[in-house]
Amino acid sequence: MTKPKVLVTRKWPEAVEKRISENFDAKLNTADSPMTEDELIVAMKEFDALLPTVTDKVSDKIISTKESKVKIIGNFGVGFNNIDTESAKRNNIVVTNTPEVLTDCTADIAMLLMLGAARRGSEGEFHVRKKEWDGWRPTHMMGTKVTGKTLGLIGMGRIAQAMAHKSHLGFKMNIIFYDPYFDNQEIIKKFNALSCRSLEELLSKSDFVSLHCPSTKETQGLIDLDALKKMKSSAYLINTARGDIVVEEDLIKALNQSLIKGAGLDVYEAEPSVSPGLLKLKNVFLLPHLGSATEETREAMGMRVFDNVVKFFEGKEPRDRVV
Ligand code: DGY
Repeated sequence: MTKPKVLVTRKWPEAVEKRISENFDAKLNTADSPMTEDELIVAMKEFDALLPTVTDKVSDKIISTKESKVKIIGNFGVGFNNIDTESAKRNNIVVTNTPEVLTDCTADIAMLLMLGAARRGSEGEFHVRKKEWDGWRPTHMMGTKVTGKTLGLIGMGRIAQAMAHKSHLGFKMNIIFYDPYFDNQEIIKKFNALSCRSLEELLSKSDFVSLHCPSTKETQGLIDLDALKKMKSSAYLINTARGDIVVEEDLIKALNQSLIKGAGLDVYEAEPSVSPGLLKLKNVFLLPHLGSATEETREAMGMRVFDNVVKFFEGKEPRDRVV
């Protein structure tokens, strides 16, 4: 039997590429250069499976390619807002993602951002590297205490719960959340968490607001100037979810005008470009979308895509089907 033809759009961890090459007629992207829309359209006519990642915009134009052979899009990433899922549905193409395996590492990065922003991590590091440090003194580079403060989670899915676990048990933080779709009393009880009735309530009560909702029509632009004004002036905003949930220009205004104290960001509105206004600010801790970037997790994500695609071509339901 001929093996299905699969296209991997970026370089993946070695062990996963090996597994995919052994089991499929695979085309890898060893140069790791992003594919253009035109290249993806050509690929749709040649391959049975497209394996993109979160930075590949798989638009309706690509998915609706005439004479397309693609039957499954196996996304490398838990977020799948890069894929036009409505178009996939219309075109009868299955879409899968990679949940669970990146939960802890992404929550770890949210913790790093919270601690880094509050304790002025990167500012301190540059201070040392630039040889500006002239010694300990009682008022030098004071930050904000994290332990015991209130963490407000927007979205209470897997990654939010992992952050709640680390923050509540490790840092004795009070957990509050806003998620109209979440009502798991066992988990609420475990963290002694307060379910806020409105976004406003969460924003006004939190010392740290951490975003854990997907990017959808409802959540894009959710954190705008109005929302930022509802936060405490001593509070921090943490974003490991998606850049477009925050209006970046409004965040820059809020940070410049001290409407909030600081922010920690792993994701941006127009990645990989970051607003120049953010780059100038000292009270924001910036990372380059590192949420899932550990060897263990990236390999597990790739293996999860592999399993989904194998199941699909065996005629079974892929475990992580989203469309
Ligand atoms: C995802 O999987 O959606 C992340 O943003 C990349 O780790």
